Amino acid sequence: MTYQERLDKDRMPSHVAIIMDGNGRWAKARGLERSAGHAKGVEVVKKLMEDSATLGISYVTLYTFSTENWNRPIDEVNTLMQLLYDNIDEELFIRNQARLHVIGDMERIPPFVMDKMNRCIERTRHFDRLHVIVALSYSSRWEITEAVRKISLKVASGELKADEISENTVSEALTTDFVPDPELLIRTGGEIRLSNFLLWQSAYTELYFCDTYWPDFNMEELCKAIYYYQHRERRFGLTGDQVEESIN
Ligand code: IPE
Ligand code: IPE
Ligand code: MG
Repeated sequence: MTYQERLDKDRMPSHVAIIMDGNGRWAKARGLERSAGHAKGVEVVKKLMEDSATLGISYVTLYTFSTENWNRPIDEVNTLMQLLYDNIDEELFIRNQARLHVIGDMERIPPFVMDKMNRCIERTRHFDRLHVIVALSYSSRWEITEAVRKISLKVASGELKADEISENTVSEALTTDFVPDPELLIRTGGEIRLSNFLLWQSAYTELYFCDTYWPDFNMEELCKAIYYYQHRERRFGLTGDQVEESIN
């Protein structure tokens, strides 16, 4: 039986976040340039969008380029930006009734990329079968720092009192204010770390790490991760008995 067949269709995660890692090592293992790994990785992203829609997942957040990735060699950064530009595929979004969102520090994104992305965001804004959230020039510490700045300004202007600040105030000041926290976070490529991704939002997320390099990721790997998620008991600080009682 495949993992896809073993999934409980009634217990699908609504939001899956993915750290798509391993493009460079995938290419190196084949004697190719890193850019070949990124190019293959993009094809996998497109297939993942189709697969997520098929599985009935509502939100997919893709860690596409981190704040720290700006420190890579300029040629690689340029290649990634060009690849992004070349692959903003409106037709794919329309076919899957998917809506594009972007989170991150957009001021650093080259205008030609931003323009094409904004067009796609605009043209897909009425879709809601699948929300694709591209984290670009994104890092959690950047995001939380910006949130602190926004909240401070509200306090300074008298719009908000310091003692009214709640967890919700913080959540709503983040770039992910329109999406529920991810139930499942997948990282490919073998590293067991979050690399500055969704630190606040993944406080109670199930974490799944696999060795597969991103260019080799596929529907069956995705289903395997979801299968893993479906077999976790999510206790949220309670005891196992309490969780069972609340279900029965
Ligand atoms: C992930 O693959 C893609 C980006 C970070 C843009 P990497 O490029 O990090 O691949 P490895 O980790 O070097 O194999
Ligand atoms: C994380 O991968 C960022 C993305 C997948 C976009 P990295 O390859 O940049 O992470 P580190 O450097 O290994 O932590
Ligand atoms: Mg990497």
